[in-house]
Amino acid sequence: VLEELKGSRRGTLTIAVATTATYFALHLLGRFHQRFPGANISLDVTNREALLRHLEENTVDMVIMGKPPESLEVVAEPFMDNPLVVIAPPAHPLVGQRVPLTVLQQETFILRERGSGTRIAMERFFAHLGATITSSMEISSNEAIKQAVQAGLGLGIVSQHTLEKEIALQRLVILDVDSFPIMRHWYIMHRKSKRFTALHQAFKDLVTEEAQGLVRNA
Ligand code: PGA
Repeated sequence: VLEELKGSRRGTLTIAVATTATYFALHLLGRFHQRFPGANISLDVTNREALLRHLEENTVDMVIMGKPPESLEVVAEPFMDNPLVVIAPPAHPLVGQRVPLTVLQQETFILRERGSGTRIAMERFFAHLGATITSSMEISSNEAIKQAVQAGLGLGIVSQHTLEKEIALQRLVILDVDSFPIMRHWYIMHRKSKRFTALHQAFKDLVTEEAQGLVRNA
């Protein structure tokens, strides 16, 4: 296998990851690059809808996203939890309290765009509880949602994996809401028919073995 890996050091790795997964995916790619400096990496950062299209059209080697599609023959390996949490600016009146869902429903939210896995999970969660929420705007970027929440445009629901910096700098607070977090999982996926090179396999192993350690303190 080592010989094979040496031979493929100059190979190509083409992956696509959910916007929400960028935060840890780039650290994984950093490690990958250290081990295989000659490898050519191509990364598309996009939402769930576009990731499904990548799988359908077979345009990438692997995808990192939530929940595998039911309509496609894919190999999907879960490797980490993905908790979705409610965020507020530090001065928000609900900070520091246990918040019942009935109270949360009176707030206004900034939502991710349609086609986002985070958005779908959040809609499913509220529909299941028979709850409805009001939205002030839709934004197709986690970074912009965090800025909008800081600017007082509403509350946000995002993956905890996007928040490391804002929590450390006390720019945002995770609210303690009943039934939260919404627990999703990260999967690494590829088409069943995909033929792996040693380089592809090395990346998949890196993700499944090391991702967890990277977000330990998130
Ligand atoms: P996103 O995340 O589409 O909301 O960026 C991917 C997912 O959770 O499936």
